[in-house]
Amino acid sequence: MGVRKLRYGKSWQRSLAFLVIQVANGEMLVLGRLARPGNTLSRQIHSLLDFAGAWPASERCAFEKDMQVLQDFVTAEEEQALLREIEPHLSRLPYETSHWDEAIQGYRETEQRNWNADNRLVLERISHLAFDGRAMPFVHILDLAESGVIKPHVDSTRFCGNTIAGLSLLSDSVMRLVRVVEDRGDPYWADLFLPRRSLYVMSSLARYHFTHEILARELSTFRLTPIGRKRRISVICRCEPEES
Ligand code: OGA
Ligand code: MN
Repeated sequence: MGVRKLRYGKSWQRSLAFLVIQVANGEMLVLGRLARPGNTLSRQIHSLLDFAGAWPASERCAFEKDMQVLQDFVTAEEEQALLREIEPHLSRLPYETSHWDEAIQGYRETEQRNWNADNRLVLERISHLAFDGRAMPFVHILDLAESGVIKPHVDSTRFCGNTIAGLSLLSDSVMRLVRVVEDRGDPYWADLFLPRRSLYVMSSLARYHFTHEILARELSTFRLTPIGRKRRISVICRCEPEES
């Protein structure tokens, strides 16, 4: 289908600034979730990221900016409403049992452009948060079976800008990001716990200098605790590449 090889062009640092502006503009739903007392964005990042290997300190800081996870981005009710609209499309498709060398195994996928009013509000929240309101109208939906896996890959730089935002539905999962190291440098990587109903926003360094993967169920542990990954649906938003 080729929809996985996409990308785009806003910097996440700018999007963060936009978030603050959104607070002033009264987008309380998004901001309420970000600014809950005692549960600030930075605290969430530290609790959901597990660094391993020989990280240069400066790169760790840049990585934390470029790989954000927002817990409870949607409520359980919003998750159900999204699933009600997504499932009829997905259930018509078989799971792909592709060759072992392909990046994703045990999945089915679709793209959706039209949404009911409630679900559109959720997608607009994502668009404002990550893309200054300029997300592409087509949303990529990736349904990973319990036995499925997304193997390590770097997304293609064609077709979309440098930020991607993914909402995780139905299951917790672990995303592993491994630095693409030139020469014979020591390896380093990070495991990211993606709770069900969280949103991740990945850009720049994290997106192009690290591979990303969703660990298989049997390998899905975070800080040594098995997380029992099940079937997972991701709703992935992108934006157009920046004009050059
Ligand atoms: C992809 C991908 C991650 C996700 O489709 O290229 O990496 O969260 N997806 O589903
Ligand atoms: Mn990818």
